[in-house]
Amino acid sequence: MSGWLAIAGLGPGDEALVTPEVRAALAEATDVVGYIPYVARVAERPGLTLHASDNRVEIDRSRHALDLAASGRKVVVVSSGDPGVFAMAAAVFEALEAGPSVWRALDIRVLPGVTAMLAAAAKVGAPLGHDFCAINLSDNLKPWALIEKRLRLAAEADFAMAFYNPRSKSRPEGFARTLTILQDACGDDRPVIFARAVSTPEESIRIVPLSQCTPEMADMRTMVLVGSSTTRIIARDGAPIVYTPRSVPA
Ligand SMILES: C[S@@+](CC[C@H](N)C(=O)[O-])C[C@H]1O[C@@H](n2cnc3c(N)ncnc32)[C@H](O)[C@@H]1O
Repeated sequence: MSGWLAIAGLGPGDEALVTPEVRAALAEATDVVGYIPYVARVAERPGLTLHASDNRVEIDRSRHALDLAASGRKVVVVSSGDPGVFAMAAAVFEALEAGPSVWRALDIRVLPGVTAMLAAAAKVGAPLGHDFCAINLSDNLKPWALIEKRLRLAAEADFAMAFYNPRSKSRPEGFARTLTILQDACGDDRPVIFARAVSTPEESIRIVPLSQCTPEMADMRTMVLVGSSTTRIIARDGAPIVYTPRSVPA
């Protein structure tokens, strides 16, 4: 089979954050498959077919990409950020596992990208410099009760936290509940970073004490980072630095 499938991350937005490996795969591809706004980031050229599809059809999109590769096409499935973080890589492997055995012989690679969490953290300093966890706050694919349990346990374990998909128009109440849980569970105040549209022209970064956070500070283009009890702010002229020291005293 001469076809192949690369599942690639386009980074958070800035072209400078697309890796050379992903650029090379896109330059070789015959087909690019993905969610409409991500496919729109790929430049058209002769010999390249773009297949843009709507949200929430990840398994259909994956099957389509696997079929194209099995027919000999050179296919790149694109995600924003990193494809392995709440994105298309797991969806493609769900489709692969449930699909025809011929797909298992395909040349499939996952090409990492700069995930939004790391791009957001870098904007303010090093808030994830010690142990942290990442949680997707969408309850599309898991029950809300599980999200609440993970939030409480992460707070108890004193992790810094990174929240993807914090708040959508269709479920605005989830992030309000998240803030209430954290304001109750974290015994002290701590910095929260609202990093919106990082590395795009609409970028905005706010640092707010947990006690003063309100739900409307986040939307679906926002990454929310919550410090641990050891996260610190270095005040200075200009933007402050937020960081979590590498060590915790015994
Ligand atoms: C479905 S997840 C995809 C994550 C992506 N695979 C990644 O690694 O960044 C979408 C969520 O990622 C976050 N996100 C993606 N790009 C972002 C950006 N440029 N700035 C801030 N948050 C972003 C938002 O929380 C958004 O709701």
